Amino acid sequence: MDARPIGVFDSGLGGLTALRELARLMPEEDLIYFGDTGRVPYGGRSKDILVKYARQDVAFLRTFDPKAIVIACGTVSTTALDVLQAENDIPIFGVVESAAHAAVQITQNGRVGLIGTRASIRSGAYERALNALRPGTDVTARACPLLVPLVENGRFQPGDIVAETVVCEYLAPIKAAGVDTLILGCTHYPLMKPIFGACMGPGVTLVDVGEQCARWVKKQLEWNGLRNERPGAGRHRYYVSDSTEDFSALASVFLGEDVAGEVEQIDITAY
Ligand code: DGL
Repeated sequence: MDARPIGVFDSGLGGLTALRELARLMPEEDLIYFGDTGRVPYGGRSKDILVKYARQDVAFLRTFDPKAIVIACGTVSTTALDVLQAENDIPIFGVVESAAHAAVQITQNGRVGLIGTRASIRSGAYERALNALRPGTDVTARACPLLVPLVENGRFQPGDIVAETVVCEYLAPIKAAGVDTLILGCTHYPLMKPIFGACMGPGVTLVDVGEQCARWVKKQLEWNGLRNERPGAGRHRYYVSDSTEDFSALASVFLGEDVAGEVEQIDITAY
């Protein structure tokens, strides 16, 4: 039994897709979310900058004495997970391993599509994880740098002509490769699931990395005796590095709950 909170972070709003799943699976846990909205997007940045940002994000969350930290960001998970794990004495979870496990269980034909930010695709981390679990997996990967800005601006609804056009262009080579599984390798992407689904067709299963990670975190906390067994609903607090108003408006849409009173702006460069 451990009643300490779980820290969760992302470059912006996308990690809320993982937080929503964590809250659904473990409603009694206290969750603290940090979205680095002042420096989003992370996906086009170099490894050195990403490691620096990730260290600051973790340092901020550690001021709450969390029992674990979830990197609800594909970009940081693929680029800085090993550094963060080596530097911290609490469990740090990324999204890659659990997504790879899910994808190799789902695929029938061994052809897996992967979309993510430039930094995630450049890292090769998903390919390594997939091939370690299922040697010979044929991975067709594509960086999709326009998708995070579209989602951060609320442009993810079916019928949005700009979002649909951009998604279908990005997915064309993946569709042509005949994949039966598509890893949405960035936590912003689940908001576009209806568009991805329409574009890829019913024969392709979408793997939501935040959802898979949340299941993995729950199991790990259980196995290690770290669950909060106190009855009652956990408290959710949100911190951002830019305007709280912009975040609150969209976050409420992402989460289906009002976050207005629980959001604070902080100076992440101080950590
Ligand atoms: N949600 C982050 C990810 O999973 C987005 C990265 C970005 O800010 O570009 O990769």
